[in-house]
Amino acid sequence: MAVQAKASALDELYSEWERGGTSPFFPVIEANHGSFVTTDRHEQLLMFGSCDYLGLSQDPSLKEAAIKAIEEFGTNTYGAQLLCGHTRIHHEVESKLSSLTSLPSAILFPSGMAANLAVISAMASSEDVIINDRTDHVSIFMGSQLSGAEMRTFPHNNMKKLESLLSQYEGKRRRIIIVDGLYSADGDFAPLDEIAALAAAYDAKVIVDEAHSFGTVGPNGLGVADHFGVLDTVDAVVGTMSKALGSVGGFVLTKPVLERELRYMAPSYTSSRGSAPGVVGATLASLTLLETCGGELRERLASNTALVIGRLREAGIDLMKTRSHIVPVLVREENKTIQVANWLMEHGVFTAAFVYPHVPSNTGRLRIGITSRHTTAECERLISLLIEARDRFSF
Ligand SMILES: Cc1ncc(COP(=O)(O)O)c(C=O)c1O
Repeated sequence: MAVQAKASALDELYSEWERGGTSPFFPVIEANHGSFVTTDRHEQLLMFGSCDYLGLSQDPSLKEAAIKAIEEFGTNTYGAQLLCGHTRIHHEVESKLSSLTSLPSAILFPSGMAANLAVISAMASSEDVIINDRTDHVSIFMGSQLSGAEMRTFPHNNMKKLESLLSQYEGKRRRIIIVDGLYSADGDFAPLDEIAALAAAYDAKVIVDEAHSFGTVGPNGLGVADHFGVLDTVDAVVGTMSKALGSVGGFVLTKPVLERELRYMAPSYTSSRGSAPGVVGATLASLTLLETCGGELRERLASNTALVIGRLREAGIDLMKTRSHIVPVLVREENKTIQVANWLMEHGVFTAAFVYPHVPSNTGRLRIGITSRHTTAECERLISLLIEARDRFSF
């Protein structure tokens, strides 16, 4: 059913855009200069579509660390981690991550998706129920399916429905609530203070995916659980290095028993190659940089975010319920969303067009990713172009 829906969406929309030469998808990046990219179709686009929230993917210290790691260890590790181990820098990354929260064990995966598949399928089985927010990331649903647990969902951030599901499933061995900390297509937070209270009341476990919030949200930059002061009540945190950390890879922070199970048993760890040394070198440099100037980078990100959100809302543009550096500009109709994204590119600004089936039909949006690297002038350029686009396309 879902596959059929996706296939027909591709036929009707994506193929039509491809034929008409208007598809904004899969741009080929020819060059990267600071906040600008040159693609196969456009020169010097101001990048407002990325998840590089702290601008670290272009940082010289990450580049140098990646090169140094390659020089020291080569471009790959020797084999599966279980048998051939991993490098000293993989180990240093895990030890840095394990010192960040009250969850004392950290385990590094090749991607955030692999981390979700592993931790969810290890924590749940057929005797359990997994309760997901309906807008959770697809990798959470994939991990849930893999676990064999019964799966239920609640409407986005609807705590009443979550509570009624928790009470309905009191007979299960485990109730496991899984949420994204910061929702990547909406920009809003999971109410983790309320979720933690419900989990305590119904003896449920909580896994939070901080992919878009690790490094950027909370007094210590550890994510939305950190923001709400409930990090020590969570059973596992999943993160990715592919957003604010400017690198690639995923991780799970959890308790030692689960960590051991993941290392020996999780197929996406045991039977998939660990991250390449260059990538882990960049990750380590990024975590080190966050220790020294994470606070300053987050302040700049917050002030750029306040400027963009404040001015666009003042102009009457619908930004949904965002409260973060992910700013969805709601255009609604799919064709119009693509037209606006293309018009913005023709005028020098790159935004990410999110349309069905990645978001519900008729809620097409331009997903603006603000970064701490953007200057005030660059934010102003985005604001004035979006206002012009809204007047021209009426959304
Ligand atoms: C909420 C969420 N979780 C997990 C992932 C997967 O992370 P990765 O790109 O490291 O596989 C993403 C990536 O888009 C995400 O948005």
